Amino acid sequence: MTSAKRGLFISLEGGEGAGKSSQAQALKALLEAKGFSVTVTREPAGCPLGQRVRELLSDPSLELNARSELFLFVAARAQHVAEVIRPALERGEVVICDRFDDSSIAYQGYGRGLSLDDVRLANRIATQGLVPDLTVLLDVPVETGLARKQGENAPDRIGQEGAEFHERVRQGYLAMAGEEPERFLVVDGTIPPEEITRTIWRRLEPLLLG
Ligand code: TYD
Repeated sequence: MTSAKRGLFISLEGGEGAGKSSQAQALKALLEAKGFSVTVTREPAGCPLGQRVRELLSDPSLELNARSELFLFVAARAQHVAEVIRPALERGEVVICDRFDDSSIAYQGYGRGLSLDDVRLANRIATQGLVPDLTVLLDVPVETGLARKQGENAPDRIGQEGAEFHERVRQGYLAMAGEEPERFLVVDGTIPPEEITRTIWRRLEPLLLG
């Protein structure tokens, strides 16, 4: 197996129904075919604590305010970084993470209206400074994304939010991508999935082989 030097950390971000999980699988297949060792994981459910947190978050009988919601996601992230992401990077693997710290900025910051600085601070505590080498933002119009999600299992508390909430999330992501163009790659999530994978690969190749 070819190992990326010190591993490479890729996060996939986007609103509801952006197609992140299919891209994670497509990228894994592509990278493995090229000889890389790949770990695909996700937030919040990428470790046992995160799975429990996800259950708490989707329990409609629990009262959760925006701050407690933030801390639940961040607690899952702290554990996920220590238990899954850092060890895989230390093994020299490519880690593809379906949602990471930018999700908290987009959803709890821009979406719920918490202070962006507070969310960034909470993220820093959880990640201990781990920053993705590349963050792919799959951008889809809110109506398209929500329509794709229709018919899935019972919507969680965030999926139930109105279109205005999801529009704030989308604009928040685009603002973050505009601020950090060297880390973000924004891809139109409505183009054919194979084309999305090819676009991501073009940006990824020099990072892996360079
Ligand atoms: P989930 O069904 O686990 O994943 P996805 O929607 O990505 O397929 O739901 C995760 C939900 O939690 C999703 O609506 C985004 C939201 N979320 C936050 O609000 N903040 C966060 O920090 C993370 C990681 C997710």
